[in-house]
Amino acid sequence: MQHSVQVEEVRRLFDLMARGTTHFAPELWHEPADVYSDPKRLVVERERLFRGHPIAVAMSADLPKPGDWMTEDLGPAPLLLVRAPDGAVKAFLNVCRHRGARVADGKGSKAKRFTCPYHAWTYDTQGNLVAVPEQNAFEGMDCATRGLTPLPVVERHGSIFVRFDPTATLAPEETFGALDEQFATYGFGDYHLYERRTVTVPINWKLVVDGFLEAYHLRALHKKTVEPIFLSRHCTGDTFGNHVRMIIPRRSFPQMKDQPEQSWDLIRHTAIVYVLFPNTVFVVQGDHLETWHCYPSGDKTDECTFHLGFYIPEPATTDSARRHWDKNMNLVVDTVLAEDIPTSRGIQEGSSSGAQTHLVFGRNEPALIGYHRALRDALAA
Ligand code: FES
Ligand SMILES: [Fe+2]
Repeated sequence: MQHSVQVEEVRRLFDLMARGTTHFAPELWHEPADVYSDPKRLVVERERLFRGHPIAVAMSADLPKPGDWMTEDLGPAPLLLVRAPDGAVKAFLNVCRHRGARVADGKGSKAKRFTCPYHAWTYDTQGNLVAVPEQNAFEGMDCATRGLTPLPVVERHGSIFVRFDPTATLAPEETFGALDEQFATYGFGDYHLYERRTVTVPINWKLVVDGFLEAYHLRALHKKTVEPIFLSRHCTGDTFGNHVRMIIPRRSFPQMKDQPEQSWDLIRHTAIVYVLFPNTVFVVQGDHLETWHCYPSGDKTDECTFHLGFYIPEPATTDSARRHWDKNMNLVVDTVLAEDIPTSRGIQEGSSSGAQTHLVFGRNEPALIGYHRALRDALAA
């Protein structure tokens, strides 16, 4: 985040603290209670949100070197990502152009070719079909038109975005949008992967995202885990086009009061939550970055899978560094899996219970309101 923007945000937070309040949305928000359980809505979400928008599928640090590759099956179509010899990331549908088998599975490095396990059609890292066993049987077929189907992909500021629609286009400015300048300053392109875990939980995918978008619940639900780290009564929540940002000050934040503005460091003294619309959460944690890529499980409204990524500025080469990052990672996992997810499971069950027609989001939950407004607008579009 640019320093001038940091100064502005520090001032805003000091002002909220002085007034003993938090950033308020202009009004309450009423959200239909079945937002997490309506199967018809999920069909539209998969089509309009996951196929219709750029999705931040991975970080540059997941594929640092030419030949690194990974597959992703949680999106609306099977994806193969590979870093080509020239350093550019390529995205393909992971579908063989012979009879449609999966060409690759999992992740790996040093790939020069992908050979389909079914009949061994072979593709290079640019997706070209380069070998067909018993090729005389395919006389008349033009190999040049049977390469892997490319998907639009953009790598920007350390993130890799894909459109799950081979007929779509994707321009760099469509990724971070109004947050572009902010993300340009973080240097995530030079970060290193520490750990990436994949977790399936019995709740709607949006409930994972919602869990990050207000600090109102910290005093109750996370009293013993993360509340002691933050000043959760004073936060800001803003929207940037479809994207959302929430800033939560740490207990150390007031130290800046006695320091000159030039030395104010918002990043060190806060946690900054971004939702890259529609399904990716970035938590900028001062000294590291956590990413949450959340996807519905097929047509199940009450199950989702997320990749939790932990990225650090320098590789962890010592035991003490590894202990430090493990401790951080475990705090995140313990808090979310032991506290947030079971609570959200209750919301999931309540969503279709008939207890109420609408949920209500308070004015003290502006980021949550901003996110659900962006969802509503995108689904109506
Ligand atoms: S389906 Fe891939 S080679 Fe036949
Ligand atoms: Fe939480």
